Amino acid sequence: MPDSISAKFTAAHGYLIHQLLSPLANRRNDGYGGDLQGRMRFAPRNRGGREGGMAARPTGIFRCSATDGPGLEWTIEDSGRLVARTDVARGVDVITCSSGGIAGPINTALVPRTPGYHVPYAGRVRREVGIKTVAVGLITEAASCRADLCAGQADLIALARASFSTTRIGPFMLRKH
Ligand SMILES: Cc1cc2nc3c(=O)[nH]c(=O)nc-3n(C[C@H](O)[C@H](O)[C@H](O)COP(=O)(O)O)c2cc1C
Repeated sequence: MPDSISAKFTAAHGYLIHQLLSPLANRRNDGYGGDLQGRMRFAPRNRGGREGGMAARPTGIFRCSATDGPGLEWTIEDSGRLVARTDVARGVDVITCSSGGIAGPINTALVPRTPGYHVPYAGRVRREVGIKTVAVGLITEAASCRADLCAGQADLIALARASFSTTRIGPFMLRKH
């Protein structure tokens, strides 16, 4: 079914696009490095084959690393600037925010791994850029899913680890609620 086709563009931490975006990794001194504009230059070019050869346009999912971490140089504001660019947002139906650094000292600050730790990033992108978001990150309770959706933080909630605890996630979530 064409509706079930999706194409995911991963700019999450450690992947090539993010390696260009983050000053932690990008030490280039050509046109793809340096200031924010230079570091953002590669992201829209990494879309080759997106439109070609497919009968139906797939649902475009963009995975970004919202920030490298507290006080680090790739920030949620930079992520907003990135996904607000028309050449990046074209064909993107939904954005999902991860976070985390890829380099730096062993004690580099990370976003604290508390329940729903990426949800505020999804909310901020949704409000400021106006693109639908998927919230991820240690979401385990039906009540918090509902609260996040009602608070306009996201349009979808995705679970990973919570789904390992049971093969019947629907009843599990209902029980928790
Ligand atoms: C140990 C660990 C490593 C992860 N590494 C990545 C990663 O490299 N890139 C990424 O986008 N998300 C990464 N994530 C985030 C997960 O892909 C996922 O989006 C998020 O943790 C939501 O799943 P959860 O419900 O289990 O928290 C990682 C999560 C965990 C727990």
